[in-house]
Amino acid sequence: MNTRANQRILITGGAGFIGSHVVRRFVLKYPNYKVYNLDALTYAGNLENLKDIEKEPNYTFIKGDIVDTSFVFEIFEKYQFDSVIHLAAESHVDRSIEDPLAFVKTNVIGTLNLLQAAKKLWGNTVNNRFYHISTDEVYGSLIENKSLFTEETAYDPSSPYAASKASSDHFVRSYGKTYDFPYVITNCSNNYGPNHFPEKLIPLFINNIINKETLPVYGDGNYTRDWLFVEDHAIAIDLVFHKGKNHETYNIGGFNEWKNIDLIKTLCRLMDQKLYREDGESERLITYVKDRPGHDLRYAIDANKINKELGWKPSVTFEEGLSKTVDWYLDNKDWLDNVTSGSYKEYYQKQYL
Ligand code: NAD
Ligand code: TYD
Repeated sequence: MNTRANQRILITGGAGFIGSHVVRRFVLKYPNYKVYNLDALTYAGNLENLKDIEKEPNYTFIKGDIVDTSFVFEIFEKYQFDSVIHLAAESHVDRSIEDPLAFVKTNVIGTLNLLQAAKKLWGNTVNNRFYHISTDEVYGSLIENKSLFTEETAYDPSSPYAASKASSDHFVRSYGKTYDFPYVITNCSNNYGPNHFPEKLIPLFINNIINKETLPVYGDGNYTRDWLFVEDHAIAIDLVFHKGKNHETYNIGGFNEWKNIDLIKTLCRLMDQKLYREDGESERLITYVKDRPGHDLRYAIDANKINKELGWKPSVTFEEGLSKTVDWYLDNKDWLDNVTSGSYKEYYQKQYL
C-alpha cells in the first residue's frame, strides 16, 4: 500500500501519450500530492497535452533528460521525491530498428540513473515506491491462438525497443533482489486514445484517413494486437501505484484482440461515417507495404492477476474507445497539424516513401 497523504511523486515522460493521461489523473484526483513531471520533450513529448492542468498548484514541470546522470541526482536531491512512476522511454518499434542506441540510452541507462538516484535517497524503505511502466513486447510473440502472456511468461524480445524495455525490467527486478529496493512493474498491451503520436498504427491511420493518404499495412496485415483504451491504463496505474504489492509484476491488457487488417477496416468504416464520406472510400486507401523486420505475430495479455488481486478490468469497450479517439482527433486538428509538421515529415518520408 502506498497511501502517504502528501507525497511528492516524480512522473517521468509525463508529456507523452500515456504519461499525460497519468499526470492529469494524479494532479486532479490527488490535490494533496505534489506531482513533478520530468520530460525531455523529445519529438514524442508535447506540453500541449497538459495545457488544461499546467496551472494547478500541485503540478510542476521539469524539463530534462533521464540519461543525464548528474541532472537526475540533482533533482532527487532538490525535490526529495517519495515515489516515482517511470514512463519516459523511446517507444516506437520502427524507430528502434533504425537507431537502437537511442533506445539503450533512454530506456536502459535512463532507467538505471533513476534507480540509482532513488536508491541513494531512499535506501530500501517500504514507504517509497518505484513504479516501472513496461510493455507486453518484452515477452516476444505468441503463435498459438489460445495462449496468452502471463506474469510468468519468459522474456523473448524481438525488436531493439522490446529488448531495451526487457533490459530495464531486469535492472528494476535486480534492484529488488540485490538491494531490497521497493519496486513494482506492470507490462501493458497496446494503448490507443487521445494524444497518441501519429507514428503508431491507430493515430497514423486516423491522420492519413483525414488527409486521404494511403494506409500502409505491413506484410499481409494478419498480425494481432490486444488494444486497451489509454484512460483504462491510467486507472490501472493509479490502482497498482496505491495497492500493488512490492516486488510484484502485473500484466495489463484489454481482453481485446484484433488482427491489424480487421481493426483497420473497422476504423475505415467508422471514419467514413464520421466524415460523411461514401462507404468504402477510406478502405480504398489501404496499401500493403514491406513488412517490419522481426514483426511479432501476436500479443495477447492474461490480465487475470490484476483483476483478481486488485479488482481492475477495462471500463471502456473497443467500440466506445475507438469512437472517442476518432472524435478527439477530428476535434483537435491543430494538435495533429502541429505534431506532424517539421521533423515528422522527414520521419514519414524515410519510413514510408
Ligand atoms: P511516448 O513516446 O508517447 O512518450 C514518451 C515520453 O518520454 C515523451 O514525452 C518523451 O519526451 C519522454 N522522453 C523520451 N526520452 C526521454 C528522456 N531521455 N528523458 C526524459 N524524457 C524522455 O510513449 P508512451 O506511448 O506514452 O509510452 C509511455 C511508457 O509506456 C513507455 O515506457 C512505454 O514503453 C510504455 N508502454 C507503452 C504502450 C503503448 O501502447 N504506447 C504500451 C505498454 C507500455
Ligand atoms: P504499432 O502501433 O507500431 O505498435 P507495436 O508495433 O508496438 O505493436 O503497430 C501496431 C501494429 O500495426 C503492428 O503489428 C505493426 C502494424 N503497423 C502497420 O501495419 N503499419 C504501420 O504503418 C504501423 C505504424 C504499424
